[in-house]
Amino acid sequence: MPQSPSSTRRLVILISGRGSNMQALVRACRDEAWPAEVRAVVASRPDAAGLQWAQEQGIATAALYHKDFPSREAFDTALAQEIDRHEPDYVLLAGFMRVLTPAFVNHYAGRLVNIHPSLLPMFPGLHTHAQALATGVRLHGCTVHFVTPVLDHGPIIAQGCVPVLAGDTPEALAGRVLAVEHQVYPAAVRWLAQGRVRLTSDQRVEVDGEPPRLFMGAGAA
Ligand code: GAR
Repeated sequence: MPQSPSSTRRLVILISGRGSNMQALVRACRDEAWPAEVRAVVASRPDAAGLQWAQEQGIATAALYHKDFPSREAFDTALAQEIDRHEPDYVLLAGFMRVLTPAFVNHYAGRLVNIHPSLLPMFPGLHTHAQALATGVRLHGCTVHFVTPVLDHGPIIAQGCVPVLAGDTPEALAGRVLAVEHQVYPAAVRWLAQGRVRLTSDQRVEVDGEPPRLFMGAGAA
């Protein structure tokens, strides 16, 4: 049944670089006819490669360079102003490599979503693939979660896993994880757009009343 315009979820995607997750989200939103629209892509640097692709898709873009702002708070205030012009239902961090202030995070409480390249709560922060190799875990992956003021923490919406293989380099492992990221993030945002995600009183996510499914990436048994 066609959705009325009022049920179309407005999405704003934040990027810092190549934007392959942003592309996966835009394509899935369009090709799967989600009740959602990507209203804008906003980058934390003007040379973010993903901006050009978004422009070619006819999506509004903007870039704010953190070095143009005197403080993290000033950058986040300007960023929120740019985002709020589009009145988003959800703000999606897709390789957005800035630590956000608590004020910014709280402003979007329940509407701010991130993808992180590890099976959280393992390996928050940077260099997750090297961390995985250094600790000898056999399973690695990615997590889509609601953002809280604690870095790389918050209710988990979906996870995807891949095996760590003998002879893996951080780059090889990153590529295997990225492929499953491109499955997990669109699925999670589709669930959100379709209104199927609920947060329980103990801050766990349910999708259609069940724990979210686990995605198996390439090489997973
Ligand atoms: C992705 O692997 C994403 O999970 C990661 O950056 C990459 C961005 O790639 N995000 C983080 O590390 C956030 N802490 P992309 O620009 O091609 O989507």
